[in-house]
Order: sequence, then structure tokens, then C-alpha cells
Amino acid sequence: MTISTARSVTERRKKVVGLNGTPRVGGNSEVLLDQALSGAAESGAHVMRIDVARMKISGCDACGSCTDSGICVKDDDMTSVYSALEGADAIIVASPLYFSGLSSQLKAAIDRCQCIWVSGPARSGRPGAFICVGGDNNANFKNAVSEARSFMKGIGFEGRMEMLVAGLDVLGMAAKRADLLDKARELGRDLVLQA
Ligand SMILES: Cc1cc2nc3c(=O)[nH]c(=O)nc-3n(C[C@H](O)[C@H](O)[C@H](O)COP(=O)(O)O)c2cc1C
Repeated sequence: MTISTARSVTERRKKVVGLNGTPRVGGNSEVLLDQALSGAAESGAHVMRIDVARMKISGCDACGSCTDSGICVKDDDMTSVYSALEGADAIIVASPLYFSGLSSQLKAAIDRCQCIWVSGPARSGRPGAFICVGGDNNANFKNAVSEARSFMKGIGFEGRMEMLVAGLDVLGMAAKRADLLDKARELGRDLVLQA
């Protein structure tokens, strides 16, 4: 009895947060993110998707207020994002590829995490994954990957997995690709095992 009590205390469900960077409802990156989160849930995680591209989040003004306090002075929807990130055991960042980078809405949320970076995240090395979808068959993901990895590292995660899909432009394309859906699900499952 003592042993099972100890287990129930220490083996709490992992929390996986998915940052959804597309403004398109049902977007290709969103569909893959949902699959990844479903996979994470299958591995026993508590999952949460945050639609940052549809929230009220303005960019960082570089006012410097957070340098001492570690707290952003802006009062908008980032407040809930901060607490979700703090409690996350793993993160999945998903974005459409826009001009070879992340969506501007996601980037605004990322820049607002400067307040976490300046004071140093409470936990580091938590596993992270990045999902990105580009419309061109020859989509170049280099910059987007670099931004996503830099973001994750800055707030205490380590980008360990990437799912980069080129040639998906039209809304609904990802949902028809069973191979991609399976791959995203597997990514989510694997991520939890590393958390
Ligand atoms: C503003 C904008 C910029 C884009 N830039 C690129 C690009 O640089 N490379 C590319 O392959 N696709 C580009 N695309 C196409 C999107 O990446 C593609 O439609 C993708 O499926 C969008 O993901 P979503 O369905 O999750 O929104 C762009 C689309 C928009 C709206």
C-alpha cells in the first residue's frame, strides 16, 4: 500500500502544451498538431492546445521592464500562455511556414517570452517538438527550425523532434494524408516518453 501511494504521488500525468501558430481554423499545421496531441494523450499525458494566432497577443516592445522583475508589463492573453508553459513537461510548437519563417502571430507570442528568458526558466531541458507545414514542394524550413529551436531553448525546452512537411498548401490537405497523421501521432506519443 505504501508503494502504490508513493507511485500515485510521483507518477503524475505529464502535461503537454501545444502552441498552435496558424490563424486558419483547421489549418494543415493545426491538424498535425491535434494528431500529435492525441498521440501524447494516448501515452497518458494531459494535453492542452493554445491557439496563439487567434488570441489577443501583441509583440514585445523591448521596454526592458522584465529585466529585473521577470514579469511582462503587458496585459493581454499571454498571461494564460505563461502559466501553461511554466507547468508544461513538454511542448509542441506548430506553425505554417510564412516567408520561410514562423507565422507572425506565433512570433509575437514567442517574443513575449523574453521575460522567461531574461530571468531564466525554472526548468530546462524539457523535451520539445516542432511541426511546420509549407505550401511549396521545395519549402525551405531552415529559418523556421532555427527560430523554433531558439525559442524552445530560451524558455527551458530542448527541440528534439521536427516534423517538416512541404507541398501542403490548400486547407484540408493534411487531413487527407493518413501517412502524415500517423507520423504526427507517433511524434506525440514519443515526446511523452521523453518527458
Ligand atoms: C503569408 C503567407 C506566407 C507563406 N509563405 C510560404 C513560404 O515561404 N513557403 C511555403 O512553402 N509556403 C508558404 N505559404 C503557404 C503556407 O505555408 C501553406 O498554405 C500552409 O499549408 C499553411 O499552413 P496552415 O494550413 O496550417 O495554415 C505561405 C502562406 C501565407 C499565407
